[in-house]
Amino acid sequence: MLNGKKIILAVSGSIAAYKATYIIRDLIKLGASVKVIMTEASCSFITPLTLSTLSKNPVLIDFTKDDSTGEWNNHVDLGLWADAFLVAPATANTLSKMVTGHADSFLMATYLSAKCPVFVAPAMDLDMYKHGSTKDNLAKISERGNFIISPESGELASGLVGEGRLAEPENIVAYLTAYFKQNQPLLGKKVMITAGPTFEPIDPVRFIGNHSSGKMGFSLAQKAQELGADVTLIAGPVALPTPEAVKRIDITTAKELFTTCKAHYSNQDIIIMAAAVADYTPKTVSTTKIKKNANDWAIALEKTQDVLKWVGENKQEEQFLVGFALETNNEQENAHKKLVKKNLDFIVLNSLQDKGAGFKHNTNKITILRKDNKTIEFELKSKEEVALDILNQIIALNKL
Ligand code: CTP
Repeated sequence: MLNGKKIILAVSGSIAAYKATYIIRDLIKLGASVKVIMTEASCSFITPLTLSTLSKNPVLIDFTKDDSTGEWNNHVDLGLWADAFLVAPATANTLSKMVTGHADSFLMATYLSAKCPVFVAPAMDLDMYKHGSTKDNLAKISERGNFIISPESGELASGLVGEGRLAEPENIVAYLTAYFKQNQPLLGKKVMITAGPTFEPIDPVRFIGNHSSGKMGFSLAQKAQELGADVTLIAGPVALPTPEAVKRIDITTAKELFTTCKAHYSNQDIIIMAAAVADYTPKTVSTTKIKKNANDWAIALEKTQDVLKWVGENKQEEQFLVGFALETNNEQENAHKKLVKKNLDFIVLNSLQDKGAGFKHNTNKITILRKDNKTIEFELKSKEEVALDILNQIIALNKL
């Protein structure tokens, strides 16, 4: 559940700060990436060196990295990076600042910038925990959609016994695990995605290719991973970073795509073929650079294997297969023919008639044609949002 998850652990100034070491260790063991933010007060209880060593990342305390150069830590980027923001331990002071949005620390500025779910594990003495203001603050924090990991009862640093002890690290980690489990409909599912163009060589310096950027397929891979899937991404030549925790196999030609898909398709639950595969490839590839001679030059081409069609013919009944169709005219009719011919569960149609759709954009406008003859049209959206629409359709139809 936590494999590949990006977690910010925000540590505020309580004696329970030492328990951050166990939380980090457990999160890392489960495959999460952890970045730690500390308040200055927490550094009196545990050293940044301990937490940076365990988390394998520098600990962030202040806005500036280096006063002499003005280099600064970017709380906005960090907030957007995270899949979860965990405040543990959260002191009464930090809870109060979370309610009022008092951004006087790097921790608070990052909290206000984070778009991900926020988990708050309070720790304080029993009377502080029982105090009306603490109760009101926790109620407000919870009302805003954040999750409270309640403290446990036991002996406190003051020697008093009662409620206020930071939840045990394994219980905090279990809480996060349960959260992601419930929000990961593709958990335990294997998903194979093809993306990007293929390049068909003519000679050592030239090839036949297309304008596919691979963004749609890479967004699908990232979102499927976030929804819990074990993702294999078969990528043509593109300049995109591999999404976190996704297995990537690079290919260049249609032939390599075919060989790779054949080797991996059989144990997949869901197969999404978003690659823009060349339909033809040069019959022969010159081993030396072809020199210019005559005024005309014709290259003899032969058909490539239609990989999607092959997978459609060879897949098992329970495997879910999605194809793409990029059309310029008679869009729905052409896409429907491909849906039937290639034995797909649904086909995602992009029309080059639609502004903002297709290869060169960060946006896309799709229509999904299903094998039960239902057609669903979507608005123009970012490719990330389109990826979620496609995966949600699969989840709904596959009744996962
Ligand atoms: N596809 C494939 N192998 C090929 C060609 C296409 O796997 N050799 C897949 C693409 O990944 C896409 C779907 O087939 O999911 C449709 O691709 P598209 O190029 O739109 O259709 P074609 O079947 O090639 O038909 P045409 O080019 O004539 O429109």
